[in-house]
Amino acid sequence: MSRLVVISNRVAVPKARGAAGAQGGLAGALNAALRKNGGIWFGWSGQGVDQFTGSINYARSGDGVTTATIDLEYQDVDEYYNGYANSTLWPLFHFRLDLTRYENEFGVGYERVNERFAEAVVPLIAPDDDIWVHDYHLMPLGEQLREKGVKNRIGFFLHIPWPPTNLLVSLPFHERLVRALLRYDLIGLQNGTWLDSFLHYCRKELGAEVDERTGTVVLDGRKTIAKAYPIGIDYDHFMSKGETGEARQAQQRLQSSTRHRTAMIGVDRLDYSKGLPERLDGIGRFFDNYPERVRDLVFIQIAPPSREDVQSYQHIRAVLEQKTGQINGARSEVDIVPIRYVNRGHSQEELFGFYRGAKIGLVTPLRDGMNLVAKEYVAAQDATDPGVLILSKFAGAAPQLDCDGEGALMINPHSSDDIAHNIRLALDMPLEERKARWERMIGTVRDDNVHWWTENFVGDLAAIELD
Ligand code: G6P
Repeated sequence: MSRLVVISNRVAVPKARGAAGAQGGLAGALNAALRKNGGIWFGWSGQGVDQFTGSINYARSGDGVTTATIDLEYQDVDEYYNGYANSTLWPLFHFRLDLTRYENEFGVGYERVNERFAEAVVPLIAPDDDIWVHDYHLMPLGEQLREKGVKNRIGFFLHIPWPPTNLLVSLPFHERLVRALLRYDLIGLQNGTWLDSFLHYCRKELGAEVDERTGTVVLDGRKTIAKAYPIGIDYDHFMSKGETGEARQAQQRLQSSTRHRTAMIGVDRLDYSKGLPERLDGIGRFFDNYPERVRDLVFIQIAPPSREDVQSYQHIRAVLEQKTGQINGARSEVDIVPIRYVNRGHSQEELFGFYRGAKIGLVTPLRDGMNLVAKEYVAAQDATDPGVLILSKFAGAAPQLDCDGEGALMINPHSSDDIAHNIRLALDMPLEERKARWERMIGTVRDDNVHWWTENFVGDLAAIELD
């Protein structure tokens, strides 16, 4: 088997920041893939410096994964990471034209950093390596590598949604971005919806020859295959966290502090794509519609801050503080506070315990590439007394967890009434139905896990014939 060179912006799993889902699926998934298959993981160190040098810092993580990272200039961090990646592409690909900022220098910084990545990583690539590039930060990297003479197979996986064509065309130079993407041999998306949008764009805007059945896209005589590979959690690894004293203590802490009330939990990076204000509106509506049930429910929202230098993230944080304050102010009693809002990350063990102690998991993104918190919540449940998952129909995980209409309770995150109604259904759901729904979901969570995802993608990449 060829060695794998994995390239992503973020490298390595930050300690104690959360389970795979809570920190964003990418880092946890790649750590799991490399722990099992070996190889090397290249990306940004997370550090800013005055002057770019391109020198590589090597490290071996406790998990035995070899990482190779470069520092970026402060200007790169501003224009590429905070700028084009997180103020242009992220909002646009999450259907938020209202938050999308287009600045020329963002685009220039984005291309500069992609070229810097290419220059630094080329010397690490051996002729037999397969290369796997990840996410929206690095869409032009394949083209850069080709221009530097790299002949290896190169695959790309997008962890976030692919927007509809009529949104994507609002991006200046959108054609250039997608043409560059078509220099990869294999492109993976999270599900069939994003795949269809991608193929539609290629046909309509680029005039590429597209075969929907095989996902083949031919442009200027070059062939790329596009396919859906839904990402999963590192099931066995996550389950082993549940057997620790830390997980049991966390579960006990949660249960003893909520006593006779049902705990409902949300765990998300503090990001506007997660639908957190809408979630709070739904909970507010639940208390408005069923005021007598304020004694039955406590909602715990864990939301570690993210991308704090980007304005829209500062704004969402302020909105959440205000909404939480309003609901708690209106609905608290001297002995009851309906919402606990926690702004910091927790270890995987603790999160496992919290998920298991909470009888409702509330996952309401407005758009999400996948959403691994939904899968972690299902994995952590007790088979004899499982909780209920309430899930947005706009999460990438929806097709897998709806299980023919009898898995998760599906909601429209824009509708407060829908959220409120489904919270009531979840609260009152009899044990037999909770078990039946959970049993339908656990199979895909356990089997379609991160190793299945890696094997599928890497297997397909390795099967591509090089010219
Ligand atoms: C999402 C993205 C990842 C990213 C993660 C955390 O899951 O798809 O690429 O790593 O969020 O975001 P951050 O900006 O902290 O890396």
